[in-house]
Amino acid sequence: MSSFIINGGKHLVGEKTVTGAKNGILPLLAATYLCDGKVTIHNCPELTDVSTSIGILKHLGCKCSREKSVLTVDSLGSDGFIIPERLMREMRSSIVFLGAVAAKCGKAVMSLPGGCELGPRPIDIHIDALKRLGADIEFTNGQIICNMPEPTGDCDIHLNFPSVGATENIILAASKGKGTTVVHNAAREPEIKDLAGMLNSAGADIKGAGTSTVLIKGVNKLHGTEHTVMPDRIVAASYLFAVAMCKGKITLNNIIPEHIVPFTSCLYDCGCEVKLGESSVFLKSGGTLKNFDSITTQPFPGFPTDAGPALVAAASVFKGTGVFVENIFDSRFRYIGELSRLGANIRTVGRTAVITGVKRLHGAQVTAHDLRGGAALVSASMAADGQTEINNIEFIDRGYEHIEDMFSSLGADIKRC
Ligand code: EPU
Repeated sequence: MSSFIINGGKHLVGEKTVTGAKNGILPLLAATYLCDGKVTIHNCPELTDVSTSIGILKHLGCKCSREKSVLTVDSLGSDGFIIPERLMREMRSSIVFLGAVAAKCGKAVMSLPGGCELGPRPIDIHIDALKRLGADIEFTNGQIICNMPEPTGDCDIHLNFPSVGATENIILAASKGKGTTVVHNAAREPEIKDLAGMLNSAGADIKGAGTSTVLIKGVNKLHGTEHTVMPDRIVAASYLFAVAMCKGKITLNNIIPEHIVPFTSCLYDCGCEVKLGESSVFLKSGGTLKNFDSITTQPFPGFPTDAGPALVAAASVFKGTGVFVENIFDSRFRYIGELSRLGANIRTVGRTAVITGVKRLHGAQVTAHDLRGGAALVSASMAADGQTEINNIEFIDRGYEHIEDMFSSLGADIKRC
């Protein structure tokens, strides 16, 4: 296990370009398996979750090659349908391969997915939806055994919660085959629109992605295509909240304004200067910032759960008291105990955190327990007086491309060891 040593107290100043979205690229990689031809993906971030997905594709028989941020996947002739446990356990989003593999091969065998521990993460919505599409699914010895031999007929699926992964799995499973599938109460996250955009460019017929009703008409064949991954709105949030709490100024390029408005409007209310352009944002932070009143995480277009830790870390040095409610996951507060080691004053009751800003945080030894919580510890350590050591940083590498370079180039003193 590696760690970061951070000497805090430096202001962050500079200009950065946001990388491709982790939660965008992962379903796109599953989608490449459905395409009979070469798929070229631009703006592909260098993340361990991406390497795991590439490992899965290679295991299934695909040819994958990478030249900097351009990834090429050729799935023509590949017919693997078994994904080994060691790859499935690496990340939660490995479950999106279920829809893609079953649609391509008529069957899929894989173990239950792993990923960050954010409380129980059932896959019942995925399974119920795939069954509605005609799949026969059994669980044996921790394995999912799925048979979906016949093309589906017309089908309406109503999700009892707008699950991002389940919506993606349905889109993947229903894109190829016969019949029309309508998903009601679908997740509206922008990553879903990105996935549908890529599949449509490969010959799929998907309408309404990004709204709560998605209509998928199955087609016989998907061909090769070229696609640029959407910018990572959560990485953008990490930059913005870090600069706000460390003081300084940043211009972020490659953002989509409507994706980051939940962060910029919150930071504006707290006292930052914010200017949104067509595909960039400028943020300046100085003087005393005041805490937000109350923020609750919601499915898109609400405040995203993945940006919660970055917000809470920043709020720990904003003046006054802010109330943060985590509404999506049962257990996403492990990082708060670590923030307390740095001197933060945060009380939690269930899914609610009450943050009372302190004047200064101080360095300490802390541990990352999950991806976003780990990244929040990086920002808090950069704002703290003195030295901090963060352990278990492998979690952070799952979703941030060289986070130490990201922040060093803005003036932070952060080293990996
Ligand atoms: N849920 C169920 N049953 C299901 C599916 C989900 O009860 O079958 C529950 C989950 O337990 C959770 C809630 O529904 O409480 C939301 O889950 P969802 O399926 O929407 O999330 P996901 O697809 O597993 C994606 C992101 C997460 C992000 C969530 C919510 C990817 C690869 N992951 O997960 O990202 O938090 O949507 O926006 O897209 C991260 O990047 O750190 C991360 C955890």
